[in-house]
Amino acid sequence: VIVEDIKKNQDGKKGVIFHSLAKNCFLAGADISLIDSMTEESEAAAGSELGQKLYNQIEDLTINSVVCVNGPCLGGGMELALSCDTILCSDDLKTNLGLPEVKLGILPGWGGTYRLPKKVGVPTALDLILAGKMVNAKKAKKIGLVAEVYPKENLLDQATKHLVKKSGKKKSFKESIEGFASDNVFGRKIIFQKAREAVLKQTKGFYQAPLKILDLMEEGAGKSRSGYLAMEAQAFGELCVGEQSQNLRHLFFMMESSKKLEIEKDEEKMPELKRGAALGAGTMGGGIAWLMAQNSMAPIMKDLNQDALELGFKQASKNFQGALKRRKITTEKFNKLQRSIRGQTDYTGFNKVDLVIEAVVENMEIKKSVFSDLEKHVTGDCLITSNTSSLSVEEMATALENPSRFGGLHFFNPVHKMPLVEIITHSKMSNETIAALHQWVVRTKKTPVIVKDGPGFLVNRILMPYLNEAGYLLQEGVSIKDLDKACLDFGMPMGPCRLLDEIGIDVGEKVAKILHEGLGDRAKGNDQSSVMVEKNFLGKKTGVGFYSYDENGKSIGENPEMANLLKQDKKMDKTEIQMRVILPMINEAAYILEEGIVETASDVDLGLIFGIGFPPFRGGLLRYADVEGLDRIHKALEGFKESVDQNRYTPAPFLENLVKEKKRFYHLG
Ligand code: NAI
Repeated sequence: VIVEDIKKNQDGKKGVIFHSLAKNCFLAGADISLIDSMTEESEAAAGSELGQKLYNQIEDLTINSVVCVNGPCLGGGMELALSCDTILCSDDLKTNLGLPEVKLGILPGWGGTYRLPKKVGVPTALDLILAGKMVNAKKAKKIGLVAEVYPKENLLDQATKHLVKKSGKKKSFKESIEGFASDNVFGRKIIFQKAREAVLKQTKGFYQAPLKILDLMEEGAGKSRSGYLAMEAQAFGELCVGEQSQNLRHLFFMMESSKKLEIEKDEEKMPELKRGAALGAGTMGGGIAWLMAQNSMAPIMKDLNQDALELGFKQASKNFQGALKRRKITTEKFNKLQRSIRGQTDYTGFNKVDLVIEAVVENMEIKKSVFSDLEKHVTGDCLITSNTSSLSVEEMATALENPSRFGGLHFFNPVHKMPLVEIITHSKMSNETIAALHQWVVRTKKTPVIVKDGPGFLVNRILMPYLNEAGYLLQEGVSIKDLDKACLDFGMPMGPCRLLDEIGIDVGEKVAKILHEGLGDRAKGNDQSSVMVEKNFLGKKTGVGFYSYDENGKSIGENPEMANLLKQDKKMDKTEIQMRVILPMINEAAYILEEGIVETASDVDLGLIFGIGFPPFRGGLLRYADVEGLDRIHKALEGFKESVDQNRYTPAPFLENLVKEKKRFYHLG
């Protein structure tokens, strides 16, 4: 209606300025649940055409149009901006522009793939659209997306200066595509080919949306606006109702809901977590100190001696340097953050700390004595947590005088890269402690999952059958290569042999033992790893494991000596290998839900996607199981129970029930 109005009243006007009345946001894109409600391809395509029509009208105004962007300008918001003659933006830190649709398995369907190349050229447009990248004000100016950057206070005033007489005909899409490649069809082909290669390399060909975007932009190059946009709408419709986009949207909703926690609590008793401390300056302690510094908590890092502290500083510094290199922080900020970490060997200053994360050696007695010591040096409100990866948090809590303020906070290695944090609860933990830790994890931009104490918690417990079953497959004669390749082809980021090399064969063996003790015979591994431990084939850290590594830790092929330890003479169908390792994971997840270790299927799925990189395009382990059909999963488990092993493949009672009642994991909520 507004655009119609403008259209009717153009005569004698200098131009029109679009801006948002929202204080800190221009327009952050379409409502994802609306997209989610579209089930028919034609319905989705029609939705796309509707948006295109509106933006065409803006583009076709005879008067000049200027848009003022302050805050996030994403997806449909960005497409609106692109339909204007001139884009201006504020220098506010919140100002970000981009077309992130590809992350949801769709494409910008309101003319974004058509107009962005016209504005910034095809290579830059491809770079932004294919990865769903966002750019800040400075970068937006540099690539020619915005004409000028102003302080947000005078953005609107300045906009009037940009209202000039509309200049003649605009460049067509064809012209802009040809322009960048010097009218050279061959050169153009090369650019798309290179982009396609890069996409395939990065996504291993698993993701449909970026490939469809490439096809659309290349094939649509010679088309008129209406011809091109019709193609865009059709491609949008196809992607929108496809399984992959549904899975990625499911992931988006899971992430959103993980930020909220419904738990009864006394707001007055909620502690404010301003200052932090890490106990232990090892691999994890250094990373945790970095995370605290990054979140302005001026952390204390405590270890037994100066040498150990040095290592912790080195670890933290490596992370800061990474950010500096990627220009995420300035040199000034880098120095400030580095200096904000205080290394010490005693408890000075702990009385001002609100959150302690313990990351000393994995030993129950040592941890318990550290906690009873620590409690004497902190205030009654300070939260105390352990980063233990395998010890009972319930038992650890007994070492504290006030266990209600204690809980597990399980980070993954490396801390700066791994997005998941398991918040491990126990029977004496207060709701306020759970809620405060949850809030804090969200504040650090990590994804929290609340997990009840139990062997292996959530992620390591489900990872166990993946790794154990790999040991059995190797014993049966499947080769390292076939095994790892089958898992990669399923979409896992690493095959089990490669992953074991990363974790350390000895560490894996230790955790496997704990899980076997805690879960019984279905979690029993074979003795594959003990033979490797004896030979010091511990993986990356000793330079040899399943694979060999050079002095920089770079893989240089399989460890030739494994040929003497493994038969590697059995050819097994790829799908069979995949099912052998994936089905017991689904089964273990069913036990986890039955025991109430986590509450919902989406807790499992988030945990696995962010904890071990379970393929996001599958929407998670249990979503995958639901899509495949639980009756089929159940039948396959029964089959392996007969042909492979009774203990490891007997369907969990919880799964049996779901099948009997014709329910799915996601029927649980
Ligand atoms: P690490 O061996 O690299 O570091 C442990 C540090 O604790 C050492 O610097 C040691 O000097 C120090 N330490 C020992 N006793 C201490 C005490 N009483 N007070 C202060 N410092 C003390 O160990 P890492 O790998 O960092 O593991 C630490 C904790 O994090 C363990 O509980 C481990 O299970 C857990 N974890 C480890 C992961 C990993 O991949 N390394 C992943 C997730 C959790």
